[in-house]
Amino acid sequence: MVRSPLITASILAGINGALAALLTCGPFQYDPAQYVCWSNAFLCPIKAGEPLSYCAGACYSKFMYTCSPQTNTLSLLPTLPPGTPFRLSASNPSEPGVHGLPVSATGLKLYVGGTTSSYCPVAQVGAACPAGNTTQFVAFDGSVSMNVLVPGGQAAYLGPDSIMGYTQAHSAYIPEGSKRTGFAAYAGGGFVNLNSGGWGWVACPSTSPVGGGGYWRLVARNETTAGELAVWGCREVNLKVEVVDQRPGEFGAWQYA
Ligand SMILES: *[C@@H]1O[C@H](CO)[C@@H](O)[C@H](O)[C@H]1NC(C)=O
Ligand SMILES: *[C@@H]1O[C@H](CO)[C@@H](O)[C@H](O)[C@H]1NC(C)=O
Repeated sequence: MVRSPLITASILAGINGALAALLTCGPFQYDPAQYVCWSNAFLCPIKAGEPLSYCAGACYSKFMYTCSPQTNTLSLLPTLPPGTPFRLSASNPSEPGVHGLPVSATGLKLYVGGTTSSYCPVAQVGAACPAGNTTQFVAFDGSVSMNVLVPGGQAAYLGPDSIMGYTQAHSAYIPEGSKRTGFAAYAGGGFVNLNSGGWGWVACPSTSPVGGGGYWRLVARNETTAGELAVWGCREVNLKVEVVDQRPGEFGAWQYA
């Protein structure tokens, strides 16, 4: 960690007045709110509060990639084995209002924070009813579903409005224009939407036009919508994958409601 040259640079910049907020990184000057300097030579942007890491000429997110210390090459993290149950939580250390909140299923939509809504027909299922108090997913080959016991399951999808939702139990209905595939859950990393050209996720306040339900709504950004979502106060987040430690045959819920 090369700290002292940066501090010196910041004091000098302070004397210069106009450049008060800038630091130097080798030959470059940079804003530490937007970039991180590696080895006093390389600048990487901070995205969704994550200072991107550096590997042999490339900046990368630890939610998706790893840098081999032996070969100094970048590779994708492995995806979770199909059917592995996992939970998601929002990550953006620069946004304490959303950082660390669990992703929860309520009213056939996904939220950042809030509470999980689930249902189990106790009269029929009895003691086999799962706890149903956490929101769990399983991924298969680019698609993602809710980790539920109800016959037919519940598929998750990205709606045409870029809001993440899931099907109602006993129904296969998915709105036209939705995306069912193009998702990846990386082991030790994040849950990534590969449909949007790397624009990632945002958590949108209930007061925004894409909001609802009193919680932060989980929305995918794309090139067209990134600007307006920022204006509406949506916060960039990575979605951290947390594998659920459970015995085979256990589920997150009978069904999410
Ligand atoms: C969910 O319910 C189970 C069983 O009642 C309990 O042990 C667990 O702590 C609960 N988890 C959460 C996140 O509330
Ligand atoms: C971007 O998202 C909006 C909805 O939020 C959608 O209407 C539009 O088709 C998307 N654009 C691309 C290029 O995917």
